[in-house]
Amino acid sequence: MEAISIGLLGLGTVGTGVVTIIENHQDKLIHQIGCPVKVKKILVKDLNKARSVELDAKKLTTDPEEIINDPDIDVVIEVMGGIDETKNYIIKALKNRKHVVTANKDLMAVHGSELLTLASEHDCDLFYEASVGGGIPLLRSLSDGLASDRITKMMGIVNGTTNFILTKMNKNGSAYEDVLREAQALGYAEADPTSDVEGLDAARKMAILATLGFSMKIDLDDVKAEGITRVTEEDLQYGRQLGYTMKLIGVAEREGDKVSVSVQPTLLTDTHPLAAVHDEFNAVYVYGEAVGETMFYGPGAGSLPTATAVVSDLVAVMKNMRLGVTGKSAVAPQFKKQLKAADE
Ligand code: NDP
Ligand code: HSE
Repeated sequence: MEAISIGLLGLGTVGTGVVTIIENHQDKLIHQIGCPVKVKKILVKDLNKARSVELDAKKLTTDPEEIINDPDIDVVIEVMGGIDETKNYIIKALKNRKHVVTANKDLMAVHGSELLTLASEHDCDLFYEASVGGGIPLLRSLSDGLASDRITKMMGIVNGTTNFILTKMNKNGSAYEDVLREAQALGYAEADPTSDVEGLDAARKMAILATLGFSMKIDLDDVKAEGITRVTEEDLQYGRQLGYTMKLIGVAEREGDKVSVSVQPTLLTDTHPLAAVHDEFNAVYVYGEAVGETMFYGPGAGSLPTATAVVSDLVAVMKNMRLGVTGKSAVAPQFKKQLKAADE
């Protein structure tokens, strides 16, 4: 049974989780895909940094070409973050006919359609389940589980860091700066947490959800976003007295051909199910014309939950490789046409 070799771009919060799951769940992976999975090379910035997983130091490299140009590597997992440099690596990997799994919503929200089109042109899979909702299997539920329905609205909490901050400020009266530092230490926040607290991370995720859910390309510039930096302890206190809880809520709605997508701090009655979503957890309601209301809930950030989504994407790629159908499921044919038209 020959092992499948993968290359990892990044060994931070998520990358460490990916290595851990591949190591600890090897039996399950063999059962799912019929062969072992081997992490061959890992791109990092600093070769001398202490790592929280045990691995052969020879696997680490600072040269992306050692992964992207390695003919033995079938799948590249991108968990390094960033946009321009990362996009170039992914483009090169796809052109070298490597399948790609990414957790990068910054990249997918802006360049997703171009990269998905490129992937399918090269018969490659490009999966990005972890980019929205951390460990919640949300994107595949939209593209597969609800494939027969017409989605009309999605609404919920899609940023773990701000939900963690609001939960701690609301419950324990903790200071904003202290809880933000805690969220950073736990690995929930982005490398630059401005995108979390200013609502940009949630806006990117809502753009990805709306693009997939409504099968039309949604520009990030069209998403109105406000974060939590102007929310004060007094706002939370008044809300509490009146029976309301403050949450950062994203809404994507479609009426006919018109779509509106926004993110803003919102007061919810304490009895609203989203008011009970605590800490780094996320929850998203999806409304379909036929199915009615569905709700997806789970850990929205953090090492192992996010890595679960990443490694599950890897399993999906490998199943497609075995069936010889890679590049077919990343974009449905109709959607492909719309994406191409939107890009032109
Ligand atoms: P980290 O900052 O913890 O890790 C980033 C990793 O990438 C590090 O190992 C770093 O190397 C490496 N890296 C970064 N830039 C470069 C570069 N230019 N060249 C080589 N290596 C580089 O990030 P996370 O693991 O938290 O996030 C990774 C991605 O996953 C991001 O896109 C993020 O948005 C996304 N994501 C994160 C979630 C989370 O809960 N943290 C959840 C869902 C998605 P070194 O270790 O040497 O510094
Ligand atoms: N910084 C992000 C969050 C990570 O807090 O939700 C998960 O995408």
